[in-house]
Amino acid sequence: MTDSPARPATTIARRGFLALSGSAVAAALAACTASPSPTGATPTPTPWTPPAEPMTFPSDYVWGTATSAYQVEGATTLDGRGPSVWDTFTATTANIKGGATGEPAADQYHRYEADADLMADLGVGAYRFSVSWSRILPTGSGTVNQAGVDHYRAVVDALVARGIRPAITLFHWDLPQALQDAGGWTNRDTTARFAEYARVLFDALGDVEADWFTINEPKTHAFVGHWYGVHAPGLTDPDAAAAAVHHQLLAHGLAVQAFRASGAKGRIGIALNLLPAYPTDPDATGGAERVDASENRLFLDPVLLGAYPTDAIGPYPGSLPADATAFEALQLTGDLDVISEPCDLLAIQYYGVTGVDANGNTVTIEPTSAASWQQIRADGLYDLLTRLRDDYPQIPILITENGMPDPLPAVTVDDPYRIDYLRTHFQQAARAIGDGVPLIGHFVWSLLDNFEWAEGYAQRWGIVAVDFVTQERLPKASAGFFSDVIAANAVSPD
Ligand code: FCB
Repeated sequence: MTDSPARPATTIARRGFLALSGSAVAAALAACTASPSPTGATPTPTPWTPPAEPMTFPSDYVWGTATSAYQVEGATTLDGRGPSVWDTFTATTANIKGGATGEPAADQYHRYEADADLMADLGVGAYRFSVSWSRILPTGSGTVNQAGVDHYRAVVDALVARGIRPAITLFHWDLPQALQDAGGWTNRDTTARFAEYARVLFDALGDVEADWFTINEPKTHAFVGHWYGVHAPGLTDPDAAAAAVHHQLLAHGLAVQAFRASGAKGRIGIALNLLPAYPTDPDATGGAERVDASENRLFLDPVLLGAYPTDAIGPYPGSLPADATAFEALQLTGDLDVISEPCDLLAIQYYGVTGVDANGNTVTIEPTSAASWQQIRADGLYDLLTRLRDDYPQIPILITENGMPDPLPAVTVDDPYRIDYLRTHFQQAARAIGDGVPLIGHFVWSLLDNFEWAEGYAQRWGIVAVDFVTQERLPKASAGFFSDVIAANAVSPD
């Protein structure tokens, strides 16, 4: 379990968590039997039970699986790829469980054809993968590495040949090290470099009908990488985290503009991980509002409404403890217009919820998985989706990540807990569609067991197991379940 700098001592934050013992979890659960509503969300007054008949999805609903470059590719020094911040971060073995690195990962750099076959066998309609920026531009900018472009062209072609829609993430946390050396996301110039990189890809792959995601989870990269110090680049500076928030969002907007200008086919959006925050008692509402501000509205509001919330940053529990005046000073005239450039879709990533106590600290109110930051609550997804419906302009929504890890580090193909997780979350998605949420698809994290960041290879999130020695792929029971759901385009009650 990671014992690392985190939010203020009593909080349990994503990957910067403090370990809670089983009895502490039980006590937290007992203290919270009342089923509170998340801040900003539609209340869920009575427990919901699925109908007796299978719940069906719209005929064009997209069923997908997801991965990211550093987590699955391996081949970190091949064919001209330059180093990224994750190569640097993993080189310090103490940063990662077991001293693991991005080698060999799931060796997808070499096995993408076989993995595409695997997805075709499962009936998956879309594959969300990310591009390694430093394969395309080894120093982040300047001369294009054609071998890198050719690789992703081949991946896209392999998918299209099997009728699988590419869902391409431009940035999933692996910033070229050369850009980090120049200040990374604290440096405004990185936003222009990102737009340059995006243009290379739109020109190279824009003839293909695809979905594009600019930035994956800007919150996790900003907070866990720049504030908690648990992810690359390993900083522990809230002001750097705030700068990384603004500059990643600005980079997103610039890439959307570049996408429009390029005439590339397909759709574009940003992938935000969102966290319903439930007050644990009536006095906790203010704290839950602040957690909601820093976890959710700090990202949703600028992208969808063109303004930052005023309660996300400051010296209070639940807030990002950066200097709000310095954060404002980063915002130049016109930045919010760029950030709120209209998108074609909103990608959300949902893993669970958090409680917030009367002191404004995040607390555990639901059972956690092997990832202690993950508090599992399926109807939190419904609350989140209906909240988006009610609080923001209507835009097609894709769930681009949703899943849970196996309880133990060993390879297993017997994963009833994951079947239960997926079934209950699919049910809540169907319920939300029935209640008017414009949800158009659902991607499971992950296709494969992979390199889970600071957890190394010790946390397996795949519906397909990977033996990292032989690289054998072994579909888990949940892969069969998912395949059946896709074939029926429906989820049954049990
Ligand atoms: C998400 C990340 C993804 C993976 C899952 C478990 O936050 O986007 O890379 O680590 O969590």
